[in-house]
Amino acid sequence: MSSSRDTDFQVTVEVPSNIALVKYWGKRDPERQWPANDSLSMTLNAAKSITTARVVRGVGGDTLRREDQNGKLVTVDPSDKALRHVAFLRRELALDGALDIATRNTFPTGCGIASSASGLGALTLAAIGAWTGSSSFAELAAAGFDRERLAALARLGSGSACRSFHSGYVLWSAGLEPDAQSVMQVYDHEHWQLADLICIVSREEKAISSSAGHLTAATSPLYRPRLAGLPERMRRVRAALAARDLDALGVQIEAEALEMHAVMMTATPSLRYLHDASCELITWLRNERESRGLPAYFTIDAGPNIHVICQHGDRDKIATRILAAFPQVTLISDCTGSGPRITGRQLA
Ligand code: PMV
Repeated sequence: MSSSRDTDFQVTVEVPSNIALVKYWGKRDPERQWPANDSLSMTLNAAKSITTARVVRGVGGDTLRREDQNGKLVTVDPSDKALRHVAFLRRELALDGALDIATRNTFPTGCGIASSASGLGALTLAAIGAWTGSSSFAELAAAGFDRERLAALARLGSGSACRSFHSGYVLWSAGLEPDAQSVMQVYDHEHWQLADLICIVSREEKAISSSAGHLTAATSPLYRPRLAGLPERMRRVRAALAARDLDALGVQIEAEALEMHAVMMTATPSLRYLHDASCELITWLRNERESRGLPAYFTIDAGPNIHVICQHGDRDKIATRILAAFPQVTLISDCTGSGPRITGRQLA
């Protein structure tokens, strides 16, 4: 199958990042990206990857330019994970045409905000949009790519990317076999608007990627007990979401994040993503909550930065208090998001 349009057609997509409330950590089958457990995330609004793709006629391979921290577009090496994913998609889907791709993130990469989720999600959506000449989700579905299929393809690039294909709160179920995995929306973004105050305590690239980290999980003595307890945690998180109960949710997500980091630290090799500054912020947040009633809780991904979760209406007030206590922190004020977007246009 080749691109359905004869003239040059360019697709631009925006795919948000997501923050897991119940974490995906460990894989049953790394080849088929089969996670060890179900996970549940909140799709974000501001933190996203914006990616443009067009099919280039004639000879030549794919090119990918990525905006660096200074806002300069840098051509990435052909061995980059993103270009390997494009090559995989082309083979898997039997679609043809070299792609010219440009991408940028609205947040710093490699520091615990899931850049691989939004990045690989956006890349998958942009590439398939360009190859099939689609400029909306309806056109993609008509071309054979509904959200479920897009999410499954993005998952093969980065597991957590599959949860960025819906708005609101999203459940990725592991299923009983690799092909029985599913991704579904539990609630849309209007059900409950929460804020995620992303506190960047370090912009350093993490030394161990999450892909490498997942492979160490099963070596931790805490891993099996964690998996055994997760169905009950998921039940409690879902009940808290249903009731829009921040305190009930908060207790669960803090325990969940700390448990995942305990597995990381007790694995072989031992992984320590948290910095001293991360722990200071957590301690402060807990003190503020216990002694002054600050209505906020934390979660953490595979990185040092702290995601402070609170009611949307409290976000400015809480952000001000965090910045007063930690003036060196860069704070991205985000919230529950409305999901990915795609637009296309003919080039002159
Ligand atoms: O999708 P990956 O391979 O980048 O793994 C994501 C792992 C965590 O961010 C730590 C947890 C999660 O569920 O997003």
